[in-house]
Amino acid sequence: MATKKTVIDFHQMKDKGEKIVFLTAYDFPTAKLQEEAGVDMILVGDSLGMVTLGYETTLPVTMDDMIRHCQAVRRGAPNTFIVGDMPYMSYQTSDEQAVENAGRFIKEGGCDAVKLEGGSRMASRIRAINDAGILVMGHLGLTPQSMGQQGGYKAQGRNVEAALKLVEEAKAVENAGAFSILLEAMPPEVAKVITDRAEIPILGIGAGPYTHGQLVIYADMVGMFDAFTPKFVKKYANIREHLVEAFKAYAADVRSGAFPVIKEHTYNMKEETVQEFLERVKEI
Ligand code: KIV
Repeated sequence: MATKKTVIDFHQMKDKGEKIVFLTAYDFPTAKLQEEAGVDMILVGDSLGMVTLGYETTLPVTMDDMIRHCQAVRRGAPNTFIVGDMPYMSYQTSDEQAVENAGRFIKEGGCDAVKLEGGSRMASRIRAINDAGILVMGHLGLTPQSMGQQGGYKAQGRNVEAALKLVEEAKAVENAGAFSILLEAMPPEVAKVITDRAEIPILGIGAGPYTHGQLVIYADMVGMFDAFTPKFVKKYANIREHLVEAFKAYAADVRSGAFPVIKEHTYNMKEETVQEFLERVKEI
């Protein structure tokens, strides 16, 4: 069994040019399969809200939702580095609120690190969480918790000013003490400059091939989530289709009586026990 990677391993992977494999998971069975597959790092994302809980955005996700799902993922992947995603309004109010909730991810959720969205305006939160001894991952570019300000789920940094701003924001997050930064939905050229200038591992989702590692939402890459599929997703399976087929076949079997079959899918009794039971049941 592989040993759990640490922040030191991620720095070494960055220095050696070994890509870091990062995937989201929200539950025990998926986490178990990802650990079996040798994923380096798991994000229990607040995308939980859309992928698993059926919300239209990530905004309704609560701390209690996140903690419950982090615990399940930790049980499934005891030897994988897990990042817990701080949900909307669990860190925006104050440094104290941010530290308290980050602490819950570690203490109750069993996570190794937390992630929060935002650049220089979140520097004091990152510093405060880091000062409490907790690893923090920054998140720049498309940040779904501020999608109102960003005008929806849109790629960021697509003009010179916006691209330059992202480079500055990444430095601010690194200087505040983040152990890593996730870049979401931006041109590869911008992500490359940020990556080349960083002394910490830079991970990307929809940010091109130059970052030190890649993240995707697992449900997108296996075809489990069909509300929309971002341009940057590569599909490795269509699990949804297999599940619908299986559910349809089950429904047809139940309706036709083809399932269950007595000899195959039921618990048996000795013939004489059946006879005695059928006799005695007449008396009650
Ligand atoms: O919640 C999540 O899964 C995320 C990714 C979209 C980056 O934050």
